[in-house]
Formats: sequence, structure tokens, C-alpha cells
Amino acid sequence: MRLKLKLRHLFTAVFLAYVMPVLNAQITNNKADNIKLFVSNMSLGDKAALCSGKDFWTTRPLEWSKIPSIYITDGPNGLRKSNITNGFAQDIVPATCFPTASALASSWNIKLVEEVGKAIGEECQENNVQIILGPGVNIKRSPLCGRNFEYYSEDPVLSGYLGAAWVRGVQSQGVGASLKHFACSNQESNRMTVNVIADKRTLHEIYLRPFEIIVKLEQPWSVMASYNRINGVFSCENSWLLKDVLRKQWGFKGFVVSDWGAVNNLPAAIKAGMNLQMPGGPVDRTIVDAYDRGRLSEKDLNQSVEDVLRITLKSDSLKKENFKYDREQHHRLARKAASDCIVLLKNEGSVLPISRDSNRKIGIIGSFAKKPRLMGGGSSMVNPTMVDVPYDEIKKIAGDNLLFSFSEGYPEKDTVDQRVIDKAVNLASGSDIVIIFAGLPENYETEGVDRLHLNLPASQNALISQVAIVQKNVIIVLFNGSPVTMPWLSEVEAVMLAGLSGQAIGGAIADVLFGDVNPSGKLAETYPLKLEDNPSYLNFPGEDQEVFYSERVFVGYRYYDMKNLETLFPFGYGLSYTSFGYNNLKLSSTSIKDTDSLLVTFRVGNIGERAGNEVVQLYILDYECTHQRPVKELKAFAKVELAPGESRQLGFVFSYEDFAFYNPVVNAWVVETGDFEILVGASSQDIRLMKTVHVDATKKWIAPLTRYSLIKEWTAHPIGRELIAPVLNGMARSFSGNQDITGNPVEMINRVIGDMPIIKLVGFSQGSFTMEMLNQMIIEANE
Ligand code: BGC
Repeated sequence: MRLKLKLRHLFTAVFLAYVMPVLNAQITNNKADNIKLFVSNMSLGDKAALCSGKDFWTTRPLEWSKIPSIYITDGPNGLRKSNITNGFAQDIVPATCFPTASALASSWNIKLVEEVGKAIGEECQENNVQIILGPGVNIKRSPLCGRNFEYYSEDPVLSGYLGAAWVRGVQSQGVGASLKHFACSNQESNRMTVNVIADKRTLHEIYLRPFEIIVKLEQPWSVMASYNRINGVFSCENSWLLKDVLRKQWGFKGFVVSDWGAVNNLPAAIKAGMNLQMPGGPVDRTIVDAYDRGRLSEKDLNQSVEDVLRITLKSDSLKKENFKYDREQHHRLARKAASDCIVLLKNEGSVLPISRDSNRKIGIIGSFAKKPRLMGGGSSMVNPTMVDVPYDEIKKIAGDNLLFSFSEGYPEKDTVDQRVIDKAVNLASGSDIVIIFAGLPENYETEGVDRLHLNLPASQNALISQVAIVQKNVIIVLFNGSPVTMPWLSEVEAVMLAGLSGQAIGGAIADVLFGDVNPSGKLAETYPLKLEDNPSYLNFPGEDQEVFYSERVFVGYRYYDMKNLETLFPFGYGLSYTSFGYNNLKLSSTSIKDTDSLLVTFRVGNIGERAGNEVVQLYILDYECTHQRPVKELKAFAKVELAPGESRQLGFVFSYEDFAFYNPVVNAWVVETGDFEILVGASSQDIRLMKTVHVDATKKWIAPLTRYSLIKEWTAHPIGRELIAPVLNGMARSFSGNQDITGNPVEMINRVIGDMPIIKLVGFSQGSFTMEMLNQMIIEANE
């Protein structure tokens, strides 16, 4: 025994002295194959040390080797890097503040989001950051979630493709993205403990789907495991989520980092497939302890360290020393992005775009005009390199004919001050056009807190209504990262949703107000008429630390459609200064197999007088399904630039996954034979073209049989049918007093007791059909 121990020590010493340096040189040359060997020879202490970071933002280096430390920090609407590494929020380096995800999503512009991602990647390179924490692709289940501004949409496909574009852009610069918050982080109330109770189909079709799309398309270097629990298990300790789904089903190759402080039991998390606990600090001894007690296997520990090292070495090899990004160019991109995100919600009469030609007085009201909201509150807050102030930008591009005046309109505090309103009303009555800048104050939309209602501050609602009494030409510009109610909607001429669109929003608003940019954003989430209409209303934010996703897959427009509910503005809605026509929808075939692809083409044209961009949306409706499906589901979209009079033919390819739903019984995406409608529209409620295709399912999905499977399920099963036949025949004979039976006994029995679980036959058969026989049948049926 002693000799063995000595030999082991000798071997380790030789390894460290001679072999390790060679391996080290090789792995730092990025020979990934050697990482396995390298890790298998690391000491337990070193492996344990690599399971958590060094401090708030960096990973632990291996001092004796060439394994470096890497810098991981926030995102996602720009780089947020603190100049100190041992704390949350001090001394943030300046970076371009791009539109938040909620705003970017309303651009529906994949190319733009990729460009923004690329610019953020460049800023990371200049600041020596290897991984940026984003994008946030959680679904907007409730409009009240305090962090909705950090997320894209209520729709998984829109969130997935836009998130993928962002990851593609960032990673094109040799910087990793960390996809967050995996998964079901859909509320801030009790976010660190809440237990999300959701069925498998809902999880796969709605909440996991954006992550799946992004992982499969872009392989983000990292995924961040969320704080909450899912069906009883914390995300960081959830091996179903991190191993079965993320790695086995989707093929994820990077590492999983915990959300900051999300780990409750590090060994359990490592075992479940989480790799890196953040923030770091002193080495966590629980790993060594769990290993020594046999609660954490060497295999799991090694795998975990390997995943981190692979990315660490990759990111280190892609560092660009002395890289500098172009601040002015990034600001210009931020302006282009912001204007692409603006959604024109209402434009009656001819107030917009504002003409520069005539001598008119423009009254600008609202503190946001001088101090715009650029982003939401919390860990995503960027320190902007510069800020475009809307009031200044409007004056800058308005020309000499227009005269401007300003009134504060509402106090900073959310109280109605009639004197402040009176001043604004006075200014409005002496103006030709009034632009009111309104929106949610910063403390309404911030990480850590959910909103309690959908209303704007009472002071702003009162201001708008009172101004609208004295002024016909009222334009409202809104700053908000998630839906608000608009009790004054019918009293004003125009409403423009500026969202939380980053440091260049001031210029972007000016561009759209004067028509230098034609608005082309569309809503990435439904604006309900009232909070009570929202599908999660009765189950948000839950009780006793549990929240039931009882609306299942009917989230956002999937619910409003199904219930035929009127909304304030539907999903996918947005106006333009021009109009678009759709025609000539063609399908490559009217009947396909589910293994075929379907080419969908149609023509979209600009039938107005201004150049403009149109967001086209393609939905699918499944007519017949064994499971309840939404009236329509978004499957594809594109943003098309069109000159006046120009038209373009567009083509989209649909395949298996576009027709499939997630069948929890067989645990797979399943297409069922039947007719599907292909819907092409300008919004979810403005479908312009539709055509039917018949899809034939080629695969027969067989659900495993259990003792609780129904008799009709046994008789429908290819093997189960054979196995149950003698049992049913015997029963039929005994029912009929052992007489010969006319007709098919199986059919007859099925008609009468088809809905009975097979296990009941054990009791009713009085000993002739035993539990052992049933168990044997189950084994044979599922072989
Ligand atoms: C947030 C993450 C963020 C992290 C680091 C957490 O509280 O949930 O989104 O990336 O802090 O700041």
C-alpha cells in the first residue's frame, strides 16, 4: 500500500516536472485533444479551484501553467465593464449604449442585430473582455416582468433568430457570448428561489426554444444558468436541463456559468453539468469534500474543468492586442439601430412626418426630451460614450422655419403637479404642433423588481389628456421597455414608440419625426388593452415561491388569438409613412411529406410614395392535431427595403420543425399528418395571403406503454396489440359466458373499456391476469 502511494507521488512529480510543461505548451497552442489528458492529470485542488471564478468578473488562472484568467462581464445592450474586479458596479468604462433587446427586437432586423453584436464584440476586444453576458432570450410571459427590456419578445422564433444574430456578431470578433438566463427566468419577484411549474411541451415550445435555436445555429461559448427552480430543481443543479436538453439534445459545446450567486450547492451543480460558479472568491472547499466522500465523480469533475479550459484557451488565442474601435462609427450605428427600432403606433391625419417647409411653432413637452431614457436599470447599465438629446437633435435637423419652445410637463417624482401641467397646456395652446415625451420612469423598469401595473405615471396621463384638449396636433413619443396602457390614445394624432433605444435615440427620434427615416419597427410583443387580459394574469408572480405556467403554450399572441381578444396593439404591428402590398403567394407543392421542404414565395411591393422597409411575417396554422395548438405560430420573418413603386419576390423554406409541435409523450418534435395553412402578413392580425399545404407524416411515433396506458392505447400499439389480444379474447369469452362471440372481440372490448388503464384488468381478472404478466408485457412491448 505504502509502496503504491510512493509510486503515485513519484509519478505525479515526474508528470508535473516533465510531461505537464509539454502538454501545457501543446494545449496553449490550442490542441484541444490534449485538454482531456491535461485535466486528467491535474491535482484535485486545482480542479476544484477552477470550478469557481477568482473574483467578481474573472476566472481563476492556473498559476503554474499557462492557463490564463479570462474576463467575463455584462451586457447585453453594450459593454459594462467595471474598472475593479472585486465588486458589482463601480467605475464603469465608457461604451456605446445600443438599444436594449426589447427595442432591438422591434426592428425585426437580423442583419442589424448582427452588426450591433459585432460592434459590441469590438468593444470587448478593446477592453480585454473575453466573454460578454448576453443575449437575454427569456420569453416575455408577463408584461410586468421588471427585466422585459432585456429580453426580445413573447415569441420564441423571433427571440431565437435575433439572439442568434447577436451571438454571431459578438463571436465573429473572437469574443464569446453567454446566453442567459437558462431557463424560465421570466419574473423578478423571488427570482432567486421561485419554482416554475411548467409542463414539458410548454418548456420546449416556448421557454427553451430560443435557447435551442441559438445553441444549434451559433454555439455560444457559454450559457448562463438562471437563479430560479424549474419543476422543483434549481437551474444550476438541473441535470435534465443542463445535460439532457442542453448538451445531449442540442449538442452544446461550451461551458455553463451560474448567474451571479445562483449556485446553492456547488458539487451538485458540477454533477448536474454547470461548470463555473460566479462570482468567484476563495476556493470553494465543498468540491474536494464531495469528491472525497464519493458524492462527485472524477468523470463529472474532469468534464466540467475541460469545458471551461477549452473556451478559456480559445478566447485567449483570439485576443486582439491593442485593438481600438471607432467610437464615432459605433455611435452612428447606434443611431441607425435606434431609428430602425422605432415603432409608429398611430398616425392619423398628416401630422407626421413633420414638414420643415412652413413657419410653425413646435411645442416640446416632457423632461424626457432633455433627459431621455436610454436603457433599463440593473446589471445591464452601460456608461454611454455620448448621448444624443432629443430636444437638441430635433432643433439641429429641423431647419430654420420651425420655432421651438419647451415645457417640463411633469415633475421627476411621480406626482401630479397641476402647476407644471398648466404651464405645458399654456405652451401647447400657443403652438401649432406639440410633441410630448412620456414613458416609464427608470424605477418602473429595473432588474430585481416587477411592475405592479401597466400604467404610465398619473402625472403623464393627466398631462397628455389636458394638452389634447387645447391642441389637435399632439404627437406622443414613448420611452418604455414593455407595454403600457394608453387611456388617451383616441385624443392624440400620433404615437411613436421610441422604446429604450440607447445613446443615439435622440437623433433617431428626430430622423423619424421629420421623415429622414421612414419608421419600420413592429411590435415584438402584444400591447394588451388591460393587464387582466394577459394570459399569465392569474399566475404572476405566483404564491409561496411557486409559479404555475398554467396558460401553457398560449403565451402572448398565441393566447389573445385563441380567445379572440381585442388588444391595444397586436404582435407584429407597426405603421410606416408608406404602404405595402402583398401578392402572388405560391407554394412549391400543395402536398408534401414531412421530410420534404416547402418553398414559399410571394411578392411584396412599396405602393406608396416614400422609400420604406417592410417587416413581412410568416405564420403557420395547424388544422388537425391530437394536441391543442395555437391559431398561428410565427415561423419566419424578414425586413425588406423597398423604393417607391419597387416590388420584390421573397422566398422562405419551411421544413419539418416548422410544422412540428413538441409531443411530451414521446419526448420529441412531432409532425402529424394533416392540412396546414401558410399565412403571410404585415402583423399577426393583418394576414394578407394564405394557402393550404397537406403534410404527410412519415414517422409513426410510438409512445412507450406503461401499466397506466389505456386499453385502447395497447390495442393501437404495434406490439402491444398482439400482446393484449389473448387477454381481451379471454375477457370477451368470460363476459359472454364462454359462448362463441360474433364480431371482433378486441373491437368490442375496446369500445366498452378502451378508456380503462390496463392495470385495472389485474384486479378484475380474478387472478387470471397477474401483475407479473403485465410487467412482462410492458418489457416486451417497449423493447
Ligand atoms: C444578473 C445577470 C448578470 C449578472 C452579473 C445577475 O444578477 O441576473 O443578468 O449578468 O448579475 O452582473
